[in-house]
Amino acid sequence: MGMRRSPVGSAARSPDSIRHFNRTVLRWFRQHGRHDLPWQVKGDPYRVWVSEIMLQQTQVTTVIPFYERFIRRFPDVVTLARARVDTVLSYWTGLGYYARARNLHRASRIILQEYDGVFPDEFESVLSLPGIGRSTAGAILSLASDQRHPILDGNVRRVLARYFAVAGEISRGETEAALWQHAEAVLPKSDALAAPFNQAMMDLGALVCTRAKPQCGVCPLVGNCQAFALGTPRAFPIRSRKRVRPTREVTFIILRDSSGRVLLERRPASGIWGGLWGFPECSSDETPVQWCRRRFHIRAIGSKALPVIHHAFTHYVLKIHPKPLRVSDAAGAKIASKDRVWISPGAPGRRGLAAPVKQLLEQLDKRDKKDE
Ligand code: ADE
Repeated sequence: MGMRRSPVGSAARSPDSIRHFNRTVLRWFRQHGRHDLPWQVKGDPYRVWVSEIMLQQTQVTTVIPFYERFIRRFPDVVTLARARVDTVLSYWTGLGYYARARNLHRASRIILQEYDGVFPDEFESVLSLPGIGRSTAGAILSLASDQRHPILDGNVRRVLARYFAVAGEISRGETEAALWQHAEAVLPKSDALAAPFNQAMMDLGALVCTRAKPQCGVCPLVGNCQAFALGTPRAFPIRSRKRVRPTREVTFIILRDSSGRVLLERRPASGIWGGLWGFPECSSDETPVQWCRRRFHIRAIGSKALPVIHHAFTHYVLKIHPKPLRVSDAAGAKIASKDRVWISPGAPGRRGLAAPVKQLLEQLDKRDKKDE
C-alpha cells in the first residue's frame, strides 16, 4: 500500500516548511528545552549510552538518581565490563526491565573485547550491540559525537505522527517506515545541529506534545500541525486496539526464621526477573505449607497473608499473594546454599531485587520495627 498523504501533508514536507520546522524547534529548544541533564556531556558516548538505555522505558526524573549512582560506581566501559552482572543488576533495582541492565553489561564486554574498551563511533557497530536499536544508536551518536542521525523514540514518534497526521497503526511496518522518513526529512542538514535538534524533539514530546494532555496552546509547531488542524491531536499516533492484559497469579513464599530473617533465592537467568533475587514462588494448586514440604522437606507454619500486590508487566499483570511462614532455624540452615540465603528484611545487601520484592522487604522491616 502506498503512503497516502493529504495535500497539507505534501506542503508540510516542502524544503521551505522543513527549514521552518527545524528552525522553530531549535528556537523553542534554546528557550524551553532541557539543558542541564547529567548526561549532557559532549564526547562521552558511554555516559550518553547509559542514560539512553535507562531512559528507554523510564522518565527523566526517575532516571536521574539511578544514573548518578550508576556512573559513580561504573564511570567507564571498562569498569562496567569488569563488574559482575549481579553487581550491575543491584544498581538497577527499582528501574525495572532488567534485560536492559543485562544487555548493557554484555555490550560493555563486547566493547572491551572487540573495540579495546572504546565505545565505537560507527553507526553499524553501535547498532549491533545488544540492547541498542536504530533510534538509540542515532541518539547516542548524535548527542555524544555530533553525527547526523535521526531518532524515533516514543516522544519523537508522537510529535511526528501528530504534526503529519500519520494515518495507520504504529505497530505496522509501513507506518513505522513512514515515520522514519519524516524523522529523516525534518532533521537539519548540518551535523552540528543533530544533537540540539534531536534533544529538542525529545523534549518537545516529553514536555509539550504529551500523550494524554498535549499543550497545543504553547506548542511552537501548532501552526502547521495537521492533527491539531483536524481537532484530534490525541488520536495520533494511532494505536492498535487495546488488548486486555491477562492476569497471572503467584504466591510468594516468605519464610522467616526465629530472628525474623527471610529466605531469598536467586532466580534462573532466563524468564522474568532473570538473575535477580526473590522469594520462592508457588502456584495456587498447592498450599504454601505443602509446597515447603514437597520442595524443601521442611515443616513450615503459615502466618497471616500480606495484602495482594499487582505488578504490571508489558504483556500481563502479576497478582502476587505474599504468604509469610515460620520455620525453625535448623530447617532454615538445611535449605541455605550459595543461591539461597537468609537475610534480614532491613539489610538485603547488594542484591538485584525485583520491585515487589523490595517493597515487601521494606514492609516487613517496618512491621518488625513497630512490633519490637
Ligand atoms: N528519552 C530518551 N532519551 C532522552 C533524552 N536524551 N532526554 C530526555 N528524554 C529522553
